[in-house]
Amino acid sequence: MCGIVGYIGQREAKELLLDGLKKLEYRGYDSAGIAVLQRGALQVKRAVGRLENLCAATGDGELSGTVGIGHTRWATHGAPSVENSHPHCNEAGTIAVVHNGIIENHEELKTFLMEKGYRFRSETDTEVIPHLIDFYYQGELLEAVQKAARQMKGSYAVCVMHVQHPEQIVAARKDSPLIVGLGQDENFVASDIPAVLKETRDVYLLEDGEFAVVTANDVNLYDVEKKPIQRSVYHVTFDENAAEKDGYDHFMLKEIFEQPQAIRETLRGCVAPGQPVVFDGVDYQDIAHIREIFIVACGTAYHAGLVGKNVIERLTNIPVDVDIASEFRYRHPIIDKDTLLVVISQSGETADTLAALRLAQRRGCRVLAVTNVVGSTIAREADHVFYTHAGPEIAVASTKAYTTQLIALYGLALFLAEHKGTLSEAECEMVKQEMLQLPELTAQVLESAESLHTLADKFLQENDIFYLGRGLDHAVAMEGSLKLKEISYIHSESYAGGELKHGPIALIEEGTVVIAVSTNERLRGKMESNVKEVVTRGAYVLGILTEGFPESVFDDVFYLPEVNPLFAPVLAILPLQLLSYYIAVGKGCDVDKPRNLAKSVTVE
Ligand code: F6R
Repeated sequence: MCGIVGYIGQREAKELLLDGLKKLEYRGYDSAGIAVLQRGALQVKRAVGRLENLCAATGDGELSGTVGIGHTRWATHGAPSVENSHPHCNEAGTIAVVHNGIIENHEELKTFLMEKGYRFRSETDTEVIPHLIDFYYQGELLEAVQKAARQMKGSYAVCVMHVQHPEQIVAARKDSPLIVGLGQDENFVASDIPAVLKETRDVYLLEDGEFAVVTANDVNLYDVEKKPIQRSVYHVTFDENAAEKDGYDHFMLKEIFEQPQAIRETLRGCVAPGQPVVFDGVDYQDIAHIREIFIVACGTAYHAGLVGKNVIERLTNIPVDVDIASEFRYRHPIIDKDTLLVVISQSGETADTLAALRLAQRRGCRVLAVTNVVGSTIAREADHVFYTHAGPEIAVASTKAYTTQLIALYGLALFLAEHKGTLSEAECEMVKQEMLQLPELTAQVLESAESLHTLADKFLQENDIFYLGRGLDHAVAMEGSLKLKEISYIHSESYAGGELKHGPIALIEEGTVVIAVSTNERLRGKMESNVKEVVTRGAYVLGILTEGFPESVFDDVFYLPEVNPLFAPVLAILPLQLLSYYIAVGKGCDVDKPRNLAKSVTVE
């Protein structure tokens, strides 16, 4: 949600800020803006819509200066408009602020400031920040930012510039990610590492409640009492090119095709031929006492959790509960020191998932994070971290993060089963061998991509598409349905096959499109009956089936290679991802940046 950047050094700030924002656009793309300090005055440019609009609006020679801040917005308070875009300034135009997060008490602060004579120009929560800093400013910028921060409730990562302090940018963080990139005679501030990766691999990862005073030659970190903080430099090892399209039309397509490799890399953290099962980040002794597991996540990661529940219960007999983080945090979960809380988050920054983690820790649970982003807040706060090795996922719709999350959960199930003895040695070895086949099998499924392109063309005019499945196939159907709606804007629902007759079947009429996933021999007959129920009512049905299942009741079929049904979700999701992708492209949608969405959801 919203990306922020800052630059201070010897070079022209404008191009560096725009470059950084390009890398952060996945965090929000409703509007963008930059402010540069030029000959003692703040020059601000803002534009609604994609970053390219801002680039077009900042012509040659404009906004020339070597200190600046920038922002790409995902609108929360106030529609996407120039007035609501960041940077926001105080009335005198001497202070500029970019902000990611939500100032929850902004109404209260606004009333306070208006009583003091401050006037507001936007509908945003953010605008209280420059006015508050102005109110507290008495010649020292850090002090004013700290006093303002003490008044602010909610979450924020902010960058602040002041015309009286052209030699510094002040940054602060609470519950929103922020890093400082370290250069030679120049330094950077950003929401996320990719924004600075072209310029530096050395960064400070700021913690909650910390402030940074960034000059061209120095970076000093402080706590809220202004006590200096020592932080070791984090050296980034991942490849900058991993965040490029590599000749693919879209990041999403590239990321779909990266799945065999991503799965292979993630498997290394748990299973290897001829080796005992391990689970990176976890020493079994630390969790041997666990009596139940809670999996908490949002969106796609939650769907991975549903598969995890099924598999962990089956292999270990440990009861597993799964919940959506935004629900979990506001109900009364029965958890204690004997509960292992597993949080799943690609970004490692999702606000609700982070809140669930903190709640569980307060209740004495051990927390295991499954995340893709090294050094993310969730990774840092959890007791144990298992990293998925999907590489940077740029497309807003999650694909390779999902399949690698599945691998992590299979790995955890097998690790627990081996230690608890719920599977024999021979069974463990067999499951391990089957897991090691998954990179090959996924590559095989992806080879059939072209046939899905043709199938997708049939669905371009649809208004509603239904997904059906039973057991693990139902969890896959849920994820397939989410993928379709988020990138193609076609309304879609998923149902457990047996639930149809309890209501949803009323929606089926002549020509309704139904996609049925059926990969489990044990449930095949039941699923066939459910498919017949919709066919009888005139539905067109596409079957995603395992090789050998008869195609008789389906209008079209896509076959998956034979696989242990436990692992079928890894394969069955692939045609559903591709189908959604081709439908969205066919409809002319902006696949990588679907409307109203952002990649990293750092607000509630
Ligand atoms: C959908 C999607 C979202 C995320 C969700 C959680 O394609 O990407 O549903 O899965 O916002 O994000 P993370 O995994 O970063 O916590």
